Amino acid sequence: MQKVFTNIRTLYIVADKSTHKKQGESMQNPIEITNAYLRISKEKVVEYGSMSALQMSEFDEVIDVSGRIIFPAFCDSHTHIVYARTRESEFVDRIKGLSYQEIAAKGGGILNSAIDLQNTSEKVLYEEALHRLQQMISQGTGAVEIKSGYGLTLESELKMLRVIAHLKASVDIPIKGTFLGAHAIPLAYKHNREGYIRLIIEEMLPNIAKENLADYIDVFCDEGFFTVEETDKILNAGAKYGLKPKIHANELANSGGVQVGVKHKAISVDHLEHTTDIELECLSNSDTVATLLPTTAFFLKIKYPDACSMIRKGLCVALASDFNPGSSPSGNMSFVMSLACIQMGMLPQEALTACTINGAYAMELSALGYGKLCEDSPANFVVTNPCQSLAAVPYHFASNMIEQVWIQGKKV
Ligand code: NIG
Ligand code: FE
Repeated sequence: MQKVFTNIRTLYIVADKSTHKKQGESMQNPIEITNAYLRISKEKVVEYGSMSALQMSEFDEVIDVSGRIIFPAFCDSHTHIVYARTRESEFVDRIKGLSYQEIAAKGGGILNSAIDLQNTSEKVLYEEALHRLQQMISQGTGAVEIKSGYGLTLESELKMLRVIAHLKASVDIPIKGTFLGAHAIPLAYKHNREGYIRLIIEEMLPNIAKENLADYIDVFCDEGFFTVEETDKILNAGAKYGLKPKIHANELANSGGVQVGVKHKAISVDHLEHTTDIELECLSNSDTVATLLPTTAFFLKIKYPDACSMIRKGLCVALASDFNPGSSPSGNMSFVMSLACIQMGMLPQEALTACTINGAYAMELSALGYGKLCEDSPANFVVTNPCQSLAAVPYHFASNMIEQVWIQGKKV
């Protein structure tokens, strides 16, 4: 039995089969068809076109979506959804005037989450992360990357990565797992940074590789966290196990993280709030995605990354939620789109491209058809509420414009 979605106001295919990312100006032009149909069979897209060309068969189940828009499910390429507890008291501290760095320097922040996580069982971590994941899927997310980095001991980093492996086996969307042991220097190593980096390289990485628990490696290369030299060393060690980097760079300061990421052929460098022409030039000569996380800038009240300059420079820009308890306690990609448009000046089409195909590219999933809706793509897409145009999604900020979510050809 095939399903045919008819009378789609605008169908966003985004890109054809051979296009795996969109850079620069081409982000403005995701492939779209007005007054369209979309035919799916089991878990795949089989055909699409304009309504005037639709040939019905007696085996079709028709789903009339008049007045609605269909686009690929969001591909959220940067999250930290395995965590033990929220950090609401730090939120209040920041309202009272403390900065994210001041809280971290007092032993709060990531170190707080690490203590909580070390004291929480794998079972509870799994159940809570699964709940967050299901909520994200219900908000339109159809592929996700999840990082470790709240363990900060061999045992607890492995625990986090096992939770991620368990999540992979529990849901119908693809998940990529990233090892982020270098998220912060744990308290026990406060006066022995080298000792912690040795632990990452000599103990954590070999054990992770033995159980095949990670797809990527990440380092928080930023002021007060890990230096460029330390990042270089950790990424070299990860490469020995075939782990490609996706790194945190230039969130709190101009850290040199972009350059070291590009040197190691990082899949993506993420955050980029503090970025100059030098970093843009470096990225434009690379295949590394610039992943922007506007909900983090919103929640921490820091400056937004300069998305327009990046697009003008021809970069491949992706958007992600950074869902985590400290700097972005939300995985709502529609709101990410709203901030991208309202605060960073991206056009709705550019924001859609960044949240779909480019996010998929930043997880090496676009060649498998994720983040677009061409033939053979997984039938992972959203149907909006009735609206005039794609712009309605970012325009109606903080209200839900997603009426239906379809994953692998099944309605969620
Ligand atoms: O992406 N920047 C580093 N990591 C997270 C925040 C982690 C936390 O505060 O718990 C981020 O913003
Ligand atoms: Fe992050």
